[in-house]
Amino acid sequence: MVQPANLIIDTDPGVDDAIAILMALASPGVDIVGLTTVGGNVPLARSTRNALALLQAAGRSDIPVARGATRPMRGRYIYAPQFHGPGGLSTRLPDPIAQPVPEGAVQFLHNHLTRQPGGFVLVALGPLTNLARLIREWPTALEQAKKIVIMGGAVDTPGNVTPKAEFNFYSDPVAAEIVLSSRLPVTLVDLAACRQVGISRDQAFGLRTAHPLGRLVLSLLNGWFQREPSRERFEFYDPLALAIALDPAIATVVKVDLDVGLEENDSWGETLESGGPGEVTLPQAVNVPRFFGMLETFLEIEELPVQ
Ligand code: BDR
Ligand code: CA
Repeated sequence: MVQPANLIIDTDPGVDDAIAILMALASPGVDIVGLTTVGGNVPLARSTRNALALLQAAGRSDIPVARGATRPMRGRYIYAPQFHGPGGLSTRLPDPIAQPVPEGAVQFLHNHLTRQPGGFVLVALGPLTNLARLIREWPTALEQAKKIVIMGGAVDTPGNVTPKAEFNFYSDPVAAEIVLSSRLPVTLVDLAACRQVGISRDQAFGLRTAHPLGRLVLSLLNGWFQREPSRERFEFYDPLALAIALDPAIATVVKVDLDVGLEENDSWGETLESGGPGEVTLPQAVNVPRFFGMLETFLEIEELPVQ
């Protein structure tokens, strides 16, 4: 059951970020009160432009977008044009008319979370720089979130940037460590969970929908396969995090204590288990039909696969 929620999504769109945002827009009882952007898949100016362009294409330019970090806590972002394309999205969207709101992402998060404690579910889909800066500036603000769900990390599974590191953690491991060591009760949707929800090229091209937001999802998905003929499987990383935020019963979970590798060698951005139960909720077995059922129902997509 999808729980009614007021969402703030911290994001670096990104093909899978965009699909997650469209899922949220299509979910009954779910209200996106704002997007905060961060550099990651693309530079910040582009992730902010993509967030605004996506909302405009979805007819939701009323949703505020607040600009966040251009740089991680240390060094520079690496970006991912090889995965998301140079512009970050696999389909062309008209340039947005709306502008970001004047306050930055950290201020936007602080204002909302503290004005209405327990009122917002925060879903973080990019590098954790904005969240870490919020913790540094206002240490108790994130405690006011009703729930925090993060896509990031690779626990006991190979990374997708290095053999050990997942992209969001690798992009800003200092921020990831600040968030995980804050003892906030976050849910961390890592690569081991996300790899359970994939779709093949043939399955993707077999999908149909008449729903306007569903059509945007399919154009992102099919555009991603069209860009690169060797691609055979798309995994719904950020959409799974969004789905778990709305319906926790999508996955079984364990409680763990995690750290992030900060050595500038092959462990940079690695997710490390420190042993013993901890504050982090880590999804394990994903109910795959339930996840695809959510996509199918909200976006009126037909012929979705049941794996
Ligand atoms: C994560 O990194 C980005 O490429 C995706 O948008 C997702 O958030 C997967 O490692
Ligand atoms: Ca992302």
